[in-house]
Amino acid sequence: MNTPAAAPVAESRAHFPLPLGPRTPRILQSLRYARRPFASLEDSARRYGHCYTVRAFGQPPMVVFTDPEAIKDIFTADAEDLRAGEANGQILGPIVGWHSVLVLDGDRHLRERRLMGPPFHGERMHHYGSNMRDITDRAVDGWPLGRPFPIHRQMQSITLDVILRAIFGLDDGPLLARLREPIVCFLALADSPSAAFLAIRPLQIDLGRLTPWGRFVRDRAEVRHLLRAEMTRRRAAGPTGRTDILSLLLEARDERGDPMGDEELLDEMFTLLMAGHETTATSLAWIFHHLLPRPDVGEKLRAELRRATDGGPIDPGRVAQLEYLDAVIKESSRLTPVATSVIRRLNVPTRIGGLDLPAGVAVAACIYATHHRADLWPDPERFLPERFVGARPGPYTFFPFGGGVRRCLGAAFATYEMKVVLATVLSRVELRLAPGYRMRPVLRAVTIAPSGGVPVVVERRAV
Ligand code: HEM
Repeated sequence: MNTPAAAPVAESRAHFPLPLGPRTPRILQSLRYARRPFASLEDSARRYGHCYTVRAFGQPPMVVFTDPEAIKDIFTADAEDLRAGEANGQILGPIVGWHSVLVLDGDRHLRERRLMGPPFHGERMHHYGSNMRDITDRAVDGWPLGRPFPIHRQMQSITLDVILRAIFGLDDGPLLARLREPIVCFLALADSPSAAFLAIRPLQIDLGRLTPWGRFVRDRAEVRHLLRAEMTRRRAAGPTGRTDILSLLLEARDERGDPMGDEELLDEMFTLLMAGHETTATSLAWIFHHLLPRPDVGEKLRAELRRATDGGPIDPGRVAQLEYLDAVIKESSRLTPVATSVIRRLNVPTRIGGLDLPAGVAVAACIYATHHRADLWPDPERFLPERFVGARPGPYTFFPFGGGVRRCLGAAFATYEMKVVLATVLSRVELRLAPGYRMRPVLRAVTIAPSGGVPVVVERRAV
């Protein structure tokens, strides 16, 4: 095995050698990843082993690790030394705002995590369960019979409605309708080929609605305006016992007894929208991609569901405990994680996986390549949910939600939502992949999705 410590060394930065890696120009390295995200990671792992250096356009050198010992070093390091906020900020700061938990480090990051944590903890999730089921039921009612349609699009619509209701606690009223439109526009933009115009500073040109950045800024301003008015209204109304995330955050206090400020709250609302919607929809699309060609797995899932529900309506609380459903979700996120890596910037020289690295470089815990190591995951390219049945995967060999103090804040929410959506869909319809579909993994703004939206056909629907 090629360990990081034994990795070939090519370059020295301030007396610290960096491991070898692709030597092609930066722009080509970025394009290669953009065109064939999974394949480029596989190529690099084959050529350079479990540790190598990549150089992306406009970024500092990044040392990529797929070794559990190195991943552990990354996830357990002092958060002041390995900074995720600084690494995320370059791209995400102008989009989600500079008060966002995603782009903060140190004490400010910890404060936000403490304030935002409670709405996402265990039992709280169950408040959102019946909403998740009802939204999915309504979507399924509208699916055509016998005619192909992209299921990814349907999952986006479901996860957007779920998150709008869970975050803002809005029922089907006029405010939801007014908020939905600009939100749909900027979420679509953030996940389209124009996303580069949002993510690259020099391309953030505001020439009104003619330019992607101009459209984004205007839609965002509209949403902020509506939300600010809603926040003022709720503050004036006082505590109402509501369980949506905005209401809980309006009442949250830090250890000094201070509430979140308006700007902070607005940035966090954006963060939850951007981080929570597309990731979950894309994960669901991948699950359908893996599941539909495997009637054996589908039948096991249905049998488990029948046992849990006695053929009656889906009870979201019970669905959360289904072991095989959980294994299917985990196996899909092992094979095709929607985020391929999580990144930290070194603030001080640090030893990772036995390798001394200089301040200023970035390190990546590569989710995709670690999940595909044959020595950690026998027969790694096969979709085998059974490998997760009765097994607890280690946090440094399986980490679709990242790790350490930066582990995804919405992991429990997303997992619960995926279970409720899948259980509802599987109990209502029989689906198959549309004939002739050939999947290609494609890079959207930051997530990797199956191409073409995964076209499916509904063969039968129960009422
Ligand atoms: C299947 C769906 C999801 C996936 C695969 C996913 C994945 C991730 C990953 C890989 C990270 C980075 C972790 C790290 O740097 O170590 C992250 C961070 C985060 N996610 Fe998720 N996520 C999902 C759903 C959600 C949802 C539903 C929400 C909220 C509603 C959410 C909110 C966040 C937030 C706030 C962070 C930043 C945490 C921090 O920096 O402290 N995510 N997510």
